[in-house]
Amino acid sequence: MPKGSQKLAKTKTQSFYDRIADVHNLALKVNGYRKSVAKYLRSLDLKIDADSYVLDAGSGTGIVTLGFQDSGFRPKKTIALDLSINSLKIARDEFRKERKKVDAGNIESIQGNVLQLPFGDDAFDLIVTCGVLEYVSLDAGLKEMARVLKPGCKLVFIPVKPSFVGSVLELLYNFKIHPLEDVRQISQRYFNIVGNHEFPIAEPMGWSKTIFLLEKPRRGDAEKVRRGDRTP
Ligand SMILES: C[S@@+](CC[C@H](N)C(=O)[O-])C[C@H]1O[C@@H](n2cnc3c(N)ncnc32)[C@H](O)[C@@H]1O
Repeated sequence: MPKGSQKLAKTKTQSFYDRIADVHNLALKVNGYRKSVAKYLRSLDLKIDADSYVLDAGSGTGIVTLGFQDSGFRPKKTIALDLSINSLKIARDEFRKERKKVDAGNIESIQGNVLQLPFGDDAFDLIVTCGVLEYVSLDAGLKEMARVLKPGCKLVFIPVKPSFVGSVLELLYNFKIHPLEDVRQISQRYFNIVGNHEFPIAEPMGWSKTIFLLEKPRRGDAEKVRRGDRTP
């Protein structure tokens, strides 16, 4: 499935996550991110079957990949892609440890950059991305995800939202929160926005994250989206 391995120059972001991978993984576990993701994904009518390909873009230590697996979907292949080699090592260990609960044999973890995904056009039936596009240009990141997603398929986009906890994380983790108005406007350059979900306040994930459910327009509808006609 991947178009060949990428030779990536080590960036500051990679070095940072390589250093903190263990602690970061622990913090996500304590905060129940996996459960929150699973609960939300289970509520969606996603068309995922034994022929489907799913990408967790910027998977880190694999919490969202595991949440996706917990929600019961069993695609042909789930790919966890991240810049950080150490985060991917932890992800691989977690998938192996949980092989009875998740479809570990069909999860592949690879190093890659969300701005140059090593996949062909229209390759995936679903993409999830959580807390990643804060490190890159929102336009470039969403454009690249739209390229590799099949028309009519969904991107579950979980950005950090402007909030007190979001601002603390922004300082700790060296990223830049995108204003929600930008998220909406830029998303609509490449996708239809079909939902905006808030996590319940009792779930720590909701203190810093929101969810935009995006759908890549089908061929023909794409032209209407570009023209700004939102009702294809
Ligand atoms: C806040 S963590 C989120 C990890 C995971 N999505 C989660 O929710 O647990 C951000 C992740 O984005 C990755 N990342 C940042 N920029 C990236 C890029 N350009 N390409 C791929 N991964 C990137 C980092 O290595 C890190 O693992």
